[in-house]
Amino acid sequence: MNSAHPEPPADPDLGAIMAIATGHWQTKILVTAVEADLFTNLSGSSATIPELSERLGYRMPGAKGFFLALVGLGLLESHDGRLRNSATAEQFLVRGRPQYIGGYLQFCARELNPAWDGLAVALRTGQPQNRAAIEGNPYDSLYRDEAATEAFLDSMDMFNTPIGLHVSSLDWSPYSSVVDVGGARGNLAHTLVTRNPHLTAIVFDLPQLESAFTRHMAALGGTDAVSFVGGDFFTDPLPEADVLIFGHILHNWSEEHRIKLLQNAYQAVRPGGAVLVYDPMVDGANPPFNAVLASLSMLVWSAGGSEYSVEECHGWLTKVGFRPETVAPAGMPDDVLVIGHKDR
Ligand SMILES: C[S@@+](CC[C@H](N)C(=O)[O-])C[C@H]1O[C@@H](n2cnc3c(N)ncnc32)[C@H](O)[C@@H]1O
Repeated sequence: MNSAHPEPPADPDLGAIMAIATGHWQTKILVTAVEADLFTNLSGSSATIPELSERLGYRMPGAKGFFLALVGLGLLESHDGRLRNSATAEQFLVRGRPQYIGGYLQFCARELNPAWDGLAVALRTGQPQNRAAIEGNPYDSLYRDEAATEAFLDSMDMFNTPIGLHVSSLDWSPYSSVVDVGGARGNLAHTLVTRNPHLTAIVFDLPQLESAFTRHMAALGGTDAVSFVGGDFFTDPLPEADVLIFGHILHNWSEEHRIKLLQNAYQAVRPGGAVLVYDPMVDGANPPFNAVLASLSMLVWSAGGSEYSVEECHGWLTKVGFRPETVAPAGMPDDVLVIGHKDR
C-alpha cells in the first residue's frame, strides 16, 4: 500500500482530475482480470494478445483494449509482441501466492464498495450505508456467505501477516498468555506462538469463525498452543491473560463502544500485563492518505466506526486505567501500535 499523499499538481491540471474520475473504470479492469484469473494464467510465462484472448474466451477488439489498459496500469508488460505479468502482478495477483490480494478485492466489491455509493448520505447523517450495520453486527451478515467469509479472512491475513511478524518481534519474555480479541481465524496468534514458543494464545471471536480457525490452524501445520473461544466481545466476559490484543477492532466501532471494549480488557488483563491496539491512525493535519480512505470506509460500512489519532487512543487507555505507550510503526505503513500497560 502506498501511504503517501498523491502529489498535488503544481499548476491547474485537468489530467489529475481525470485520473481520479476514471478510478472506477480502473478498479473494474483490475477486478475483471483477477476474477478471470488472468495473472495466474500468465504466471511465469508470456502470451500474445490473440493467444491470451482465446484462453480467456474474449473477443477482439475489446480484448486488445483491455490488455493494453492492464499494461497502462503497470500490471502487465509488453515485450516483442508478448504480454507477461509485471513484478507487482506476479507477487500480489497470482492465486496461491502468500501476498495474493484477490480476497481483499472481493471483500471491497461485496462489502465496502456498495456502501461507498451512499457516501453523501453518510456525510450528512453520520449513518452507515450498509444495511447489515444498521440492523446489527455487519460481521453476522458477512459470515452467512461462506465464499465471502473466506475472501474476508484471506484479506485480513494479508494485512495481519506483516503486523504479526512485527508484534512477534517485541519482547514477550515477561508474558506467558495472550488473547487475540477479534483474532479472526488465528493467523496472527499462530505467528506469535510460533516465534515465541513460551506463549499460549486464545483467539476470541464470533462463534461462526470456529471452523475457519480449525481449518487454518491445520493448514499452518497445527499447534496446541492456540485455542479458540467463541463469543461476543460486547456481552461475554473476555478470557483472562497477560496480554490482550485488539487488532483492527476499535476502528469498527463508535468511541463509546471502544471505551467499553477497553474497560472489558482492563478486567481481563492480569496485573503487570498489557493491552495492544493496532489500527491505521490519522494524526496531525496530513495523515496518511490510505488511513483517511480507511476512515471513510468505516463511516459508510460500520456503525460509528472511523480511524482515530494516537492521542485519542492514549486518552481512552488512560481513562480505563492503562498506562499508554506508542510503539510505531506496526508492520504496515499506515498502522500504528499502541500499548496500554496495567500496573501491578
Ligand atoms: C477487521 S477484523 C480484524 C481481524 C484481526 N484482528 C486482524 O487484525 O486481522 C474484525 C474482527 O472482529 C470480529 N468481531 C466483530 N464483532 C465481534 C464481536 N461482537 N465479538 C467478537 N468478535 C467480533 C470479526 O469476526 C473479525 O474477525
